[in-house]
Amino acid sequence: MPVNADVLAARLAADRARVDRRLAALFDDRRAVEPRLEAAMRHGLLVGGKRLRPVLVYAAGRALGADDDALDAPAAAIELIHAYSLVHDDLPAMDDDDLRRGEPTVHRAFDEASAILAGDALQTLAFEVLAASGAPRLAALVTTLATASGRDGMAAGQALDLAAVGIRPDLAALETMHRHKTGALIRAAVRLGGLMAVAEDDPRLGALDAYAAAMGLAFQVHDDVLDVTGDTATLGKASGADAARDKPTYPALLGLDGARRKAGALIEEALNALVPLGEPAAPLAELARYMIERDH
Ligand code: IPE
Ligand code: IPE
Ligand code: MG
Ligand code: MG
Ligand code: MG
Repeated sequence: MPVNADVLAARLAADRARVDRRLAALFDDRRAVEPRLEAAMRHGLLVGGKRLRPVLVYAAGRALGADDDALDAPAAAIELIHAYSLVHDDLPAMDDDDLRRGEPTVHRAFDEASAILAGDALQTLAFEVLAASGAPRLAALVTTLATASGRDGMAAGQALDLAAVGIRPDLAALETMHRHKTGALIRAAVRLGGLMAVAEDDPRLGALDAYAAAMGLAFQVHDDVLDVTGDTATLGKASGADAARDKPTYPALLGLDGARRKAGALIEEALNALVPLGEPAAPLAELARYMIERDH
């Protein structure tokens, strides 16, 4: 089943525009208590970004029969968490990056304290958005987002990443790190979408999760590859940053070709996991292929 590039591009653009409207509306019609904090939040959230996690919420939800309107809140919530994770990831104490999404990072455009606080406020806003949605299975949604973000998910992965600088972990440790720092939020995106359609014990959520786990790891393997092969202008963030900081990555451990083969094998695994879901999951299959074909 070849990817129809035009159809995929149109669907991506439509879903991005949809979640962008929802995210921008979070700043409408309110008087900011601290305008500089909100300006820093807007910078971290609204400027650029592929919105792939919201796109996954929509695709996963639709695959199981959810309405688009119901998917807007979890789509916005996962992007809020992702944006917060990037604002903090770029801080001097973490990856110390100056460029993100083609713009100065939040701590460069504002200052470090504003970036820390903007990240904090983006994170809590994610849960506010979910809570206000009145969605069914709200407890499951909140638990999914919280676990994926915290000590069993992204935050743990980020800590593993920083602890491994200069050490060159083995492949198993690298995989654990990647599955947490990036895979966890991608799995959460897919599960949030699924939960808008079916109950927690529905076996289709298991198929979606197997898809998301393999695809989420492939996503970070490809991010590592792009850090080597991409250029700064296309990426919108500095290329070569991982090697410069002696970061543990798949290309560092397996070589570029080895990393690409690994990403390809993971996408095959993701596609196989979708088979029980049939034709409604076709957009999820296209997205999986896109994850390792993208140039930024
Ligand atoms: C970058 O994620 C950070 C990783 C987890 C690898 P994306 O590549 O999805 O970044 P944006 O949201 O499009 O900027
Ligand atoms: C980021 O991994 C993961 C999270 C933000 C949670 P990277 O550090 O590789 O992401 P980039 O390359 O800076 O986008
Ligand atoms: Mg990092
Ligand atoms: Mg980084
Ligand atoms: Mg990276």
